[in-house]
Amino acid sequence: MRLKSVCQRVRAYLGCGRARLSASGLRAQPKNATADSGAGLERRDPRFTSAAPLAYKNRHLQAVCELAGTRALKTIPWWEPEIGEAERDLVVQVLESNFVNDGDVTTRFERRVVELLGCRHAVGVTNCTSAIFLALVAAGVGPGDEVIVPDATFIATANAVSMAGAKAVLVDIAPETLTMSPAAFADAITPRTKAVVPVHVSGRSADLDAIMAIAAANNITVVEDAAEAFLSRRQGRALGTFGAMGCLSFSPMKLITTGQGGMVITDDDALHLRLRQLKDQGRPIRGTGGDDPHPIVGYNFKLTNLQAALGLGQLETLDKRMDHVRRMYAAYRDGLEGLNAVTVLPFDIDDGALPLWVDVIVERCAELAPFLRERGIDCRPYWHPIHTQPSYLLPDERFPVATEMMPKAVWLPSAFSVSEADVARVCRTIREFLAD
Ligand SMILES: Cc1ncc(COP(=O)(O)O)c(C=O)c1O
Repeated sequence: MRLKSVCQRVRAYLGCGRARLSASGLRAQPKNATADSGAGLERRDPRFTSAAPLAYKNRHLQAVCELAGTRALKTIPWWEPEIGEAERDLVVQVLESNFVNDGDVTTRFERRVVELLGCRHAVGVTNCTSAIFLALVAAGVGPGDEVIVPDATFIATANAVSMAGAKAVLVDIAPETLTMSPAAFADAITPRTKAVVPVHVSGRSADLDAIMAIAAANNITVVEDAAEAFLSRRQGRALGTFGAMGCLSFSPMKLITTGQGGMVITDDDALHLRLRQLKDQGRPIRGTGGDDPHPIVGYNFKLTNLQAALGLGQLETLDKRMDHVRRMYAAYRDGLEGLNAVTVLPFDIDDGALPLWVDVIVERCAELAPFLRERGIDCRPYWHPIHTQPSYLLPDERFPVATEMMPKAVWLPSAFSVSEADVARVCRTIREFLAD
């Protein structure tokens, strides 16, 4: 089919769009679009809005391109959840049971996590931010205390400390892993230091041998932020089970999702009881909402049966999920090999590390993200160092590694829908960018 007629057919389907054909395929674009946002498609299908999930947009674009008799140049998503029939069935069962609160399905989900991680207790909560907050409060952290947090993390880690009324003391990171520098942790300890929150960025373990030893020597409670590290291991042991408590996230960008959701895991029976009380208005066991005893002041941070059903459904495809993230990491490591300007951050796969997201350090990183996006490849630039955010502002000189490294770090696409051919396309595009 001639180029002009392909574009005409696509334009006719879209009603108002523009169509561009390149050597690698066709991209349908609306008028005035800056990227293949797919606007124009909403005329064909009211469910197609700019907020529609990428997988949906890609499917739709595929249909357009089939109509045009060409190949779709799909947008490669950075990450998106994958939700299947098992999840739908389990959620429907909860709806039909008419018990949509924290209940028996939440307990089943907690027990599965206990089995998978090899810990004694798991307490389902609303998200990982509240999990860290509850863990700190359970450890007795409050106003006047200091909690040490790495500069390279999602701001939730520091915010959870602030929610507990304590001061988040930021420390620099190690350049090889972008996780907390044990030396910086040791230097930041004061008589007020009550806890430390090492973060396993992208599922890569923080230097726990050193951090645990320093914490033990100074009587400091370790609460692991394992939001990104569900089922990642170190020396055969699950991350989150090294400290007094570990905190998990089941938000949509994680290995499994419950929409929003989190868990605190612990081996300590007393902390477990306290966590249960704190998450449910001070009640040690699920009550009636009426004549229950409430021995302490607590909060409402419950994970519901509905969310837990989604989580249990996601666990049914766990092997496939874990295999996928490992394959993504290997494909990027091989595809970017030999490029001096790119460092794929390491994961010790043989030791059990699970690379949730593939993070790389790239020269001219700020230019790379728009370059990729213009070519239909989504990616996620790293967080800004926490010390640069208005609520936690401190001078750059105190965080030389985070200040230098974090603006050069980016997560490459590794969603469950990303194939090895997609990774090859991303790697080719990065090589093209570096050759510029
Ligand atoms: C390192 C880290 N800590 C904490 C959180 C907060 O988790 P949630 O969104 O479940 O509150 C996240 C969220 O992605 C995270 O990446």
